[in-house]
This record gives sequence, C-alpha cells and structure tokens, in this order.
Amino acid sequence: MTFRNISKEALAGSITLGFIFVAGYFFGKKKSSRMSISKSHCEGKDNPLLQYVLNHSMREHPALKELRLRTMEHSWNIMMVACEQSQFMANMAKLIGAKKALEIGVYTGYNTLSIALALPDDGVVVACDIREDYPNIGKPFWKEAGVEKKIDLRIQPALKTLDDLLAAGEAGTFDFAFIDADKVNYDNYFEKSLQLLRKGGIIAIDNVLWGGKVVNPSPDDADTVAIDKLNKKLHRDIRISLSMLTVGDGLTLAIKL
Ligand SMILES: C[S@@+](CC[C@H](N)C(=O)[O-])C[C@H]1O[C@@H](n2cnc3c(N)ncnc32)[C@H](O)[C@@H]1O
Ligand SMILES: *[C@@H]1O[C@H](CO)[C@@H](O)[C@H](O)[C@H]1NC(C)=O
Repeated sequence: MTFRNISKEALAGSITLGFIFVAGYFFGKKKSSRMSISKSHCEGKDNPLLQYVLNHSMREHPALKELRLRTMEHSWNIMMVACEQSQFMANMAKLIGAKKALEIGVYTGYNTLSIALALPDDGVVVACDIREDYPNIGKPFWKEAGVEKKIDLRIQPALKTLDDLLAAGEAGTFDFAFIDADKVNYDNYFEKSLQLLRKGGIIAIDNVLWGGKVVNPSPDDADTVAIDKLNKKLHRDIRISLSMLTVGDGLTLAIKL
C-alpha cells in the first residue's frame, strides 16, 4: 500500500496514534523512574491523598509525636519508619494479643515506643541495634511515655541477640517481630525470627520495595539483590502465610503457620 492510497483521515489517525504512542512511552518512562511509594513522616508534603489518610487516621501518643519531631532534626531521619505503618503494626500486635516483640533495627526508637505502648504491662520488646547513640535519642521519650521498663535494649549485632535468645530457650515464645536493620542480613533475621515466633505470630519486614529498585535489581547492588531474593523466597515459603503491602517503602507481613 502506498502513501497516496491512504485517506487523509486514516493518515491523520495514524499520526495521532503515533503521538499518543510516543507520549505514552515518555510518560511511562517518567513514571517508572518514580516508582517508590512515598514514605510519610506524618506529613503528606506533595501528596494530598496521603495527607488526608494521615489527617483522618493518626492517633499518635504525645510522646511518640515528640520523638518523631526530635527525630526529624536528626541527619538520618530518612531511616525512621512511616508513622501510619507504625500505627498499623501496633494494631496488628494488639489484634494477636502480643506480649513479646522483637525490634530488629531501632534507630531513635519510634517504632520501639509505638510497639511498647501496644503491649500489656508485662509485655517486653527486645530492641536490637549496634549503635548506642541513636536509641539514646529516644530513651527520654520512652521514659516520658512510662514504657521504658518494657523495652529491653541490646546493643550488639542483632544476629548475636537473636542467637542469645535462641540459646536461652526462647524459641516459639515471641508474638511479633519487625525486621528493619541491614538489608543483606534480612534473610538471616527472617529465619531466626521465625524460630523465635510462636504459631500465629507475625513477622513484619520493612523496605521490601526499596524505593522501587526491586523491580529491576542491579546485580552489583547487594541491598536490592538481598531484598528481592527474600521477596521471591517468601512467595514460595509454605511455613508462612503472606501479604505484601504498599504502605511506606513496602511492608511484608508473614504469619507463622
Ligand atoms: C532503618 S533504621 C531502623 C528504624 C526504626 N525501626 C524506626 O522505627 O524508626 C536501621 C537501624 O539498624 C541498625 N543496624 C544496622 N546494622 C545492624 C546490625 N547488624 N545489628 C543491629 N542493628 C543494626 C542501624 O544502626 C539503624 O539504627
Ligand atoms: C490536613 O490537616 C491540616 C491541618 O489541620 C490541614 O491544613 C490540611 O488541609 C488537611 N489536609 C487534608 C488533605 O485533609
């Protein structure tokens, strides 16, 4: 078919389609480079819908709010958990009647405080971090909230703390675990937490979307590779039931069967 045989309308139509295709390609590209689900520190910033969600659901304890504002002054505040995610996890812990929890990666202890507030008076959260200076920022707020006695802070590599708990015969006694430390150890944290959990206990794993990088992991990016590998493993893991939520930077919930 030559050009001359095509009607003007058909030609105009295909040119329009061509434009839509090209525009779609560039729009698609633009979109794919912005795949992260924005993380909230209780500010919707450029996202009115997220702001609406926060406005209509957050019930932060006053000490939690103060700790959040204090953490926002810290240079690594990007590490803090999304507050609506933290509240969701506290609700999960309450739902299953959690008494014993693990926090793997404390930072300034926003989520540690949130989970401690959700536990009964005789509850305990074993809080693991390698740095003392970060949790020290949170300690005064834990005290202010009156829950510092529920927080068992252990400053050493988290794997060592989990091994200590297993050696102390605490396998099968924990109700809830939040994994949020170094990404290359995520699988080890998952395996040890699974041993420490009772049946029906929940392991929550943070950053499972890693800013969208998991969709196309670069082989030399060890963190992304580790997260993607664990995501694939959990999908097939018959020891758990599973959900992957698009809250924060991506949150997996694994329930021990
Ligand atoms: C993303 S932050 C945790 C945020 C925290 N869950 C919150 O609620 O805001 C990660 C923390 O893991 C700690 N960390 C890194 N490697 C670790 C290790 N091997 N063992 C224990 N903690 C580690 C870091 O010092 C940092 O405080
Ligand atoms: C959220 O609350 C703030 C403070 O009350 C208000 O200024 C803002 O308009 C609210 N945004 C939405 C989307 O509800």
